[in-house]
Amino acid sequence: MKVGGVPYRAIFTGGDGTEVRVIDQTVLPHRFETLRLETAADAARAIRDMVVRGAPLIGATAAYGVALAMRADPSDASLEDAVGMLAATRPTAVNLRWALDAADTLLRGLPPGERIAAAYDFAARLCEDDVRANRNIGEFGLEVFGRIARRVGAGDGDGRRLNVMTHCNAGWLATVDWGTATAPIYLAHDRGLPVHVWVRETRPRFQGAGLTAWELGQHGVPHTLVPDGAAGHLLGRGRVDVVIVGTDRTTAAGDVANKVGTYPLALAARDNGVPFYVAVPSTSVDWTIEDGAGIPIEERAADEVTRVWGVDGDGVERWVRVAPEGTRAANYAFDVTPRRLVTGMVTERGVCGAEGLGGLFGR
Ligand code: MRU
Repeated sequence: MKVGGVPYRAIFTGGDGTEVRVIDQTVLPHRFETLRLETAADAARAIRDMVVRGAPLIGATAAYGVALAMRADPSDASLEDAVGMLAATRPTAVNLRWALDAADTLLRGLPPGERIAAAYDFAARLCEDDVRANRNIGEFGLEVFGRIARRVGAGDGDGRRLNVMTHCNAGWLATVDWGTATAPIYLAHDRGLPVHVWVRETRPRFQGAGLTAWELGQHGVPHTLVPDGAAGHLLGRGRVDVVIVGTDRTTAAGDVANKVGTYPLALAARDNGVPFYVAVPSTSVDWTIEDGAGIPIEERAADEVTRVWGVDGDGVERWVRVAPEGTRAANYAFDVTPRRLVTGMVTERGVCGAEGLGGLFGR
């Protein structure tokens, strides 16, 4: 997608093709900066500190982390160290484990002399596959949007927009390009189906306010930022036609782990008869578990809850405390939405009910 008219991906290579760069998501929306990852340790740090985040992008960054490790030392020991270090960064997004397992299996079968080229090639292919999958999710999701728009009378020339609600950032910044939940939004906008997006701010790290609102703004998609707690009100008043979110790990049976707050959003959508869709690339499906209770939920530092970061009226960036000093806070980064609350899964192979994932992917 474009930033200031210039096409970017959330991760890309430069120089002789071995230089790996990412967009620094910790300083958006106030500054747009790219950062060079020089070592596997840099890649691990970028994932852990959320310089990059979002399940597909975490997987892509891990794949390039392995390539950087191979460039420095293509031995078995180096491969094992890199995979171990990268795997320990964040626990919930299954894309991380998927990418590392695939890279590890591929590279172990090769002599060290062939590993550098193979590791970069693997990472590049993973990125292209991600972009292709997201494009397909966009096409299938757009069919869903089109059906809903016809039912509610949006886009028929009277100025009524299709009102879409999303949570966190499942946008192009969370993937290599296009995003998952945002792919149908961008396609709808580009192809003339008028959409308006309710962007939930997504406490405590504000991926909605800082990243989704920024992305949509760059692309010219009409949107309104709302506090997370406003969702029930908007759903209850008929101001939302469809909800679509991303996922960090969806079980084989269709339980969905995503950014904390997704579950109450799904409950409120169900209570108000609003369709609730999840954009699920196959790389985010954990085929080894059925029950969402088995998904590890990341717990992050309490100070992400007790402090916020922003820019004051003089343009100075600063952290401020919003809770009494010493307040104990809990910071669960994800929750699990049970499959019964999911209207449909939008995948790169088509749309299915939560129970239909296995059939769609031949598992
Ligand atoms: O903690 P984050 O910002 O990595 O969480 C991101 C999300 O929850 C996204 O919705 C999910 O990774 C899907 S991204 C296409």
